Amino acid sequence: MQAAPAPAVVYAILTSSMNAAPQQPDDQLEKALAALLSARKYRSVHPGLARAIASAELAKGRSVKEAVKAAKNQLHQSAAAYIRRNLNYDDALLQLQSALKPPSRAHGPGPPRDAEPVLALLRRLMAAHASTHERLPLLDTLYSQLFQRLPPVHSVLDIACGLHPLARPWMPLPPDLPYFACDIFADQADFLNRFFRLMGYAGSVEQRNALDDMSAPSADVAFLLKTLPCLEQIQSGAAQRLLHQIDAPILIVSFPNHSLAGRKQGMAQHHTASFLSQIEKAGWQADSLTYSSELIYIVHKT
Ligand SMILES: C[S@@+](CC[C@H](N)C(=O)[O-])C[C@H]1O[C@@H](n2cnc3c(N)ncnc32)[C@H](O)[C@@H]1O
Repeated sequence: MQAAPAPAVVYAILTSSMNAAPQQPDDQLEKALAALLSARKYRSVHPGLARAIASAELAKGRSVKEAVKAAKNQLHQSAAAYIRRNLNYDDALLQLQSALKPPSRAHGPGPPRDAEPVLALLRRLMAAHASTHERLPLLDTLYSQLFQRLPPVHSVLDIACGLHPLARPWMPLPPDLPYFACDIFADQADFLNRFFRLMGYAGSVEQRNALDDMSAPSADVAFLLKTLPCLEQIQSGAAQRLLHQIDAPILIVSFPNHSLAGRKQGMAQHHTASFLSQIEKAGWQADSLTYSSELIYIVHKT
């Protein structure tokens, strides 16, 4: 009887299936990629991620049509399903510009905390993405409770950020603090960069595939909110690798407490079992903040 491969071997096989040169004719891959990127939902998705997913599906012996369908399904589960409403980014920025008109803008960089029209608009925009939508009731408490547990923070990473950078005014951090965020949609990254500039915030947002490229700058703290299950869904073992790769001594890692449709409760426990064993194996310390919609871990990588 053949022995089961050791975990490290399994990981190497999975990683190579995503990263190795495709095993199928190039024209099949180019056709699948073109079909994937021509879909309205995925036209601004990270092309390297789309290629890796399409390539892995073709390598299973699927036809171009089947591979495109399977790849769309993967991208839907890990990213597009969270988009509740497509934002018109230009429109949103025009609305922000008018909400920022003096006198509220006369307070210097960053909105004053009482800039109610700006905050109300940002709440409406965050409602367009399921993850920030669920977090709306927590905005006024979460960041103060979180940051009071941390040593002074001078820089932040926000990996697979979705629309989370729009919560920047609720974070007790100075406007000139470097904030680097990334996700897979180019148009969303462009919108968030323009949002930062309009608000007078330092930082930048880039289109990145966190499964392939974690050459992000180092920072004091990295947010990995509700993200690990999405990455694991595309590539098993991605969560553990990312936790180690991110160059930040403190990771803020969260897990949703219910399924996207809201049907399954207690999801956080399901997701956290392997996460907690990885933390223990690495010898890191973690404490948690529990909210009804989200379980947040503060991980000290020391
Ligand atoms: C559940 S949402 C969480 C969004 C945000 N972190 C929050 O909690 O508000 C998962 C996010 O992961 C992003 N994502 C999925 N695959 C990714 C990848 N390979 N690299 C970077 N981001 C990815 C999706 O686009 C989506 O915005």
